[in-house]
Amino acid sequence: MASSAWAICCLLGSLLFHRGSPSPSASVPRLRLSYRELLSANRSAIFLGPRGSLDLRVMYLDEYRDRLFLGGRDAIYSLQLDQPWADPREVLWPPQPGQREECVRKGRDPLVECANFVRVLQPHNRTHLLACGTGAFHPTCALIAVGHRGEHVLHLEAHSVESGRGRCPHEPSRPFASTFVGGELYTGLTADFLGREAMIFRSGGARPALRSDSDQNLLHDPRFVMAARIADNSDQNDDKVYFFFSETVPSPDGGPGHVTVSRVGRVCVNDAGGQRVLVNKWSTFLKARLVCSVPGPGGAETHFDQLEDVFLLWPKAGKSLEVYALFSTVSAVFQGFAVCLYHMEDIWEVFKGPFAHQDGPQHQWGPYGGKVPFPRPGVCPSKMTAQPGRPFGSTKDYPDEVLQFARAHPLMFRSVRPRQGRPVLVKTHLAQQLRQIVVDRVEAEDGTYDVIYLGTDSGSVLKVMALQSGDSAEPEEVVLEELQVFKVPTAITEMEISVKRQMLYVGSRLGVARLKLHQCETYGSACAECCLARDPYCAWDGASCTRYRPGTSKRRFRRQDIRHGNPALQCLGQSQEEKAAGPVATTTVFGTEHNSTFLECLPKSPQAAVRWFLQRPGGQGPDQVKTDERVLQTEQGLLIRRLSRLDEGTYTCTTLEHGFSQTVARLALEVIVAAQLNSLFHRGQRLEEPPARGSLASTPPKAWYKDILQLIGFANLPRVDEYCERMWCSSRSRGKQAKGKSWAGLELGKKVKSRVQAERNRTPREVEAT
Ligand SMILES: *[C@@H]1O[C@H](CO)[C@@H](O)[C@H](O)[C@H]1NC(C)=O
Ligand SMILES: *[C@@H]1O[C@H](CO)[C@@H](O)[C@H](O)[C@H]1NC(C)=O
Ligand SMILES: *[C@@H]1O[C@H](CO)[C@@H](O)[C@H](O)[C@H]1NC(C)=O
Repeated sequence: MASSAWAICCLLGSLLFHRGSPSPSASVPRLRLSYRELLSANRSAIFLGPRGSLDLRVMYLDEYRDRLFLGGRDAIYSLQLDQPWADPREVLWPPQPGQREECVRKGRDPLVECANFVRVLQPHNRTHLLACGTGAFHPTCALIAVGHRGEHVLHLEAHSVESGRGRCPHEPSRPFASTFVGGELYTGLTADFLGREAMIFRSGGARPALRSDSDQNLLHDPRFVMAARIADNSDQNDDKVYFFFSETVPSPDGGPGHVTVSRVGRVCVNDAGGQRVLVNKWSTFLKARLVCSVPGPGGAETHFDQLEDVFLLWPKAGKSLEVYALFSTVSAVFQGFAVCLYHMEDIWEVFKGPFAHQDGPQHQWGPYGGKVPFPRPGVCPSKMTAQPGRPFGSTKDYPDEVLQFARAHPLMFRSVRPRQGRPVLVKTHLAQQLRQIVVDRVEAEDGTYDVIYLGTDSGSVLKVMALQSGDSAEPEEVVLEELQVFKVPTAITEMEISVKRQMLYVGSRLGVARLKLHQCETYGSACAECCLARDPYCAWDGASCTRYRPGTSKRRFRRQDIRHGNPALQCLGQSQEEKAAGPVATTTVFGTEHNSTFLECLPKSPQAAVRWFLQRPGGQGPDQVKTDERVLQTEQGLLIRRLSRLDEGTYTCTTLEHGFSQTVARLALEVIVAAQLNSLFHRGQRLEEPPARGSLASTPPKAWYKDILQLIGFANLPRVDEYCERMWCSSRSRGKQAKGKSWAGLELGKKVKSRVQAERNRTPREVEAT
């Protein structure tokens, strides 16, 4: 076991090494935006409900009614999509009288389990939603009146409350999937109190309810992820409901133990069960394995077997549906995530292929080689099965032989493989786990790109692209942004996109956030910055970084280069704008001999490679700063310990990204010799007098106050307050301007002081590790 785990690690390690990413930091987000930054830029808006947390379990984005419905603990909410979220509607829906007490009596957790956690919100008709909740371990459903389009009402139809058994799990958190089709609710769940009886269930319509055959062992400890109706072709009789889930099955080669695999399963919408066999049970259920793995040398594969989430990318007319799926590894040794893309045609092919067959529990699985009866099991009754002489208009007409075969062969032999035979994205060594996936297909100047949004367990969303370059099989990963949507770390559990509104709706237990898909001005005010962002939503329009709209900008050439992010090429002749922003000014910074100093440089993108150059006074061309024990390069800048007079000079901080070099900061460091400083302090009483010699001598009196404050900040921490007081008093008489300056200098000094202090407190090893 240990050695195979090691092999997986090594395989993956070498594989990632060979991915040939252009820079080692390719998977570092180009832009990180904090919770505050998102809020203050209006990029996001948050709804946490009247009590500060919704305990959200389900979210339904209703673009027909322009509403967002939320199901939480003992409550349902409605928000209007195009309004500020200040005016929600709320329906309180606690468990039925006595249920909470009974739940506690049965040994359930009163806080975490004995409430009505709303888990189903589905459109029932034009004016009503179907809602189901756990009802304190007593599943309950009801109709919720939501009004016609344009109205903003929400109330529970008290007369409609009924048992929700089979339609909602008992537990608030157990994986569960549902979809509402033609007046009936399809669910994948464990339907009993003890959570043992897993099934696919259909109920709520005029037809008798249909369920999985429990003798059949169709489902093994399933974790349902999603359910959706998908039309296989233009014949509505062929419509099926597909379920995506993982299950833990006995080892497929007949060996001991269990393994986790991911599945796509399906049933016909017009399944009516059998007449003598499979009465009120599914007669068309089939399932196939969904494989998401990275091929390695010698046929070894690294598998991502646990399905986390699925997103259906509905096509523009005439194309087939694409399925994006997010997987994780099952290994206890290392954690990895992968995104695989499947085409619906490939799923259909597998269901048309051979059935899996096993001679006995100890035997290996193989393709079924015998004669398959007609109508082929899994085929929906339709024109094809109801031809003259083949009178199979309903599954109730299917011969017993067909139903027996379906019962014995629910699994397909072949697996569904991803497009390109490998994941579009592999992420290992992540600080967070990935939980949710949403994809937007975006048209840009140089092609169409799938922007992948990944919801993490720490309340953030990653906005990622996987670029497939012509010659290499490995896509290049570009992490455009990391957006900290929630203030505190909390797992993202729901994510919906509105392409029409260019919004993402992101849910966690706490509440829900509305997040703009893009905010192009965030990338900066220069053509090069806009281009380096490589965001397919954004382009340089000649004056600023703005939303790119395909087709509408023919007249004006828009600068955008998603594939290469090459500003040198794109922004040729656009240098006017960059010059307008002005060259980087030189800031003078003082340090004292034998003390540390910190030279700050904050590049916009953590992906950029930062380099420091030093131009010594009277020296030749600038040299690149060599880092060692004494000179450390951190994410925020350069830390120089035990300054020497030889460190004096002009430091330039430059970034290099996609061959584009930018100067971010220019700092002239002046070193005060220790002896000189002491004499300075001793003249503290006569501050009006500038120091007689040294670097400070040439500066005019006003600036000199600022400088000495900074100087104290760096060098003599305990004395700051004392000097500050003196400075404040003596400068007050000089009028407002001087006062303001002194304080600005002081604030700066304090900031730098605390930063330097923090750096000092860390051990060298820690600093190097950053
Ligand atoms: C943010 O949005 C609100 C309401 O839509 C608006 O009043 C406000 O001016 C916006 N703020 C910014 C910085 O755009
Ligand atoms: C929706 O269903 C409810 C409950 O069955 C019913 O009262 C209501 O009239 C229906 N609305 C429409 C528009 O059919
Ligand atoms: C920093 O400078 C002050 C003032 O010159 C001096 O007292 C102190 O010892 C210096 N600290 C270090 C670490 O050299």
